[in-house]
Amino acid sequence: MDRRNFLHAAVVGAIATSAVPVFLAGCARTSTVPTRRASDPSFRADDVLRQTYPFSLPALGYDYAAVQPAIDAMTMSIHHDKHHAAYVTNLNTALQTQPALQGKTLRELLTSLDTVPDAVRDAVRNNGGGHANHAMLWPLLAPGGAKAPTGALLDAITSEFGSTANCLAALKAAGVAQFGSGWTWLVRDVTGSLSVRSTPNQDTPLANDARVLLGVDVWEHAYYLAYQDRRADYLDAVLAVLNWDAVTRAYEGS
Ligand SMILES: [Fe+2]
Repeated sequence: MDRRNFLHAAVVGAIATSAVPVFLAGCARTSTVPTRRASDPSFRADDVLRQTYPFSLPALGYDYAAVQPAIDAMTMSIHHDKHHAAYVTNLNTALQTQPALQGKTLRELLTSLDTVPDAVRDAVRNNGGGHANHAMLWPLLAPGGAKAPTGALLDAITSEFGSTANCLAALKAAGVAQFGSGWTWLVRDVTGSLSVRSTPNQDTPLANDARVLLGVDVWEHAYYLAYQDRRADYLDAVLAVLNWDAVTRAYEGS
C-alpha cells in the first residue's frame, strides 16, 4: 500500500468509527474512487422501513459518480458505504440484547421510541433514524427521473407554497438554518398538508407520523469534501438534481 492509498484507507477507517462530522478538505481532489455499474435495482425507501432485525444496508443501485458535479463520487462512496453502513451496524448491535424489539419494523421502532427501553433508546433513535433517513435519501438522488414535480404533487406544492421554486427555497432556508447536523424535509402530514421542517441529528419526521416526501442531509459528511463550509451552495446543487419520480412515489404512498 503506497502512502496515498494508506492515507485514503486511514481517512475512511476513521470516518467509519466516528459519528461526528469529519473535516477532510482537499481529499476530493487527490483521491480516486472507482465508479461502478449499477448491479442492483433501485430500492424503495418503504422496503427499508419494513425491515426488521437484523437490518441491512441497501445497495445504492447507481454509480457513486452519478450525482456529480452536485455531489462528488468520493462523498457518495463514503456517505453510503461508511456512514450509512455504520448506522445499520450500530442499530443491529443495539438490538442484539433486545429480543422484544427484534420483530419490530424500522418504522415501528421510530414511531414508538417511547416504548424502547432506556438502555437502547438513544441508540435506536440515532442509528435507526440514520438508517431510515439515508434510505429515504438515496432514491432521491438516483439519476434519471422527472426533474420537476407534476400532476397532483405539483398541485399540492403550488397550493401550499405558491410555486416549486418557493418550496425549494423553503427547503434550502430550513437546511441552512439547521444548527449543526441534521436534515431539511418536505413532509405530508396526516391531514394531507405539505410543510417544510428540519430536524437535528438523525431525528426523523417519521416519528410524528408524517409522510416524508423528500429529505436532504445537511450533516457535514454529506458535503464537506467538495463544499467545505458552503452548505447553501451544496443545497442549491442537490435540490436542482432531485429525482421527482421518487418524490411522487412517496407522495402517492406507492
Ligand atoms: Fe448522512
